[in-house]
Amino acid sequence: MRKKKHANLIKDIPTAERRYLNQDYLKFKKYILFSVPFLMLFLTFSGLRLLRNSKFNSFANTYIQIPNNHDQSILGHLPYQEISNEKLVVIEPNIKVHIDMRESLLKMREDARKDGIYLVFLSGYRSINLQKDIFYSLKSMRNQIASERARVSAPPGYSEHSTGFAIDIGDADKRDTDFEVQFENTNAFRWLKKNAAKYHFKLSFNQNNKNIDYEPWHWRYEGSIEALKVFETSNRNLKNSKK
Ligand code: DAL
Ligand code: ZN
Repeated sequence: MRKKKHANLIKDIPTAERRYLNQDYLKFKKYILFSVPFLMLFLTFSGLRLLRNSKFNSFANTYIQIPNNHDQSILGHLPYQEISNEKLVVIEPNIKVHIDMRESLLKMREDARKDGIYLVFLSGYRSINLQKDIFYSLKSMRNQIASERARVSAPPGYSEHSTGFAIDIGDADKRDTDFEVQFENTNAFRWLKKNAAKYHFKLSFNQNNKNIDYEPWHWRYEGSIEALKVFETSNRNLKNSKK
């Protein structure tokens, strides 16, 4: 009887005991503590990338200041390297063009002439220095800010003319439309619109361009791999903007 009472007493005395936590649980806790910061970093960067590529781009730029000119364009103009002198040929006293396009360009003028259309070449290759004068001197003379000037003239280093692959064309019968939007009402323009692609020429600045004014007189050559490489970014942008 005394023995039983003693046994009950032992059972009721609270004692500290060492408890071993489940090892799997500890491992899991360590894993969580280690991976949460990485997960947060990953989510932040993914979020920023998503914002940058999304339609809320302007929101992202306003609040997070992410530059969005991945193609390095300035005021809507892409950068172009100046072509080396060895690749330039003279086609008229004051007009040089890239050697790749000479034959096609002259053939186009000749075929137009057979149709009674007289094309005049107004401007071909322009050095970056000349483009500098055209951009800054005229900008200043006309009291224009850069974005206004860039609607009609590319900043130096950003003109298709410096590649040798651009040509400005007029109508010999309508010289008053040279470098004017009214050129689009001439027979020369109508002929070019219908036929220029046969000679690998394409209008560079159409009515849909939001930064640069419509230039019905400005055509670029895309009939060689070198020319296609030069205009690849521009063509890719055009394709994306049509989506
Ligand atoms: N007029 C075109 C945009 C140029 O200056 O290249
Ligand atoms: Zn031009």
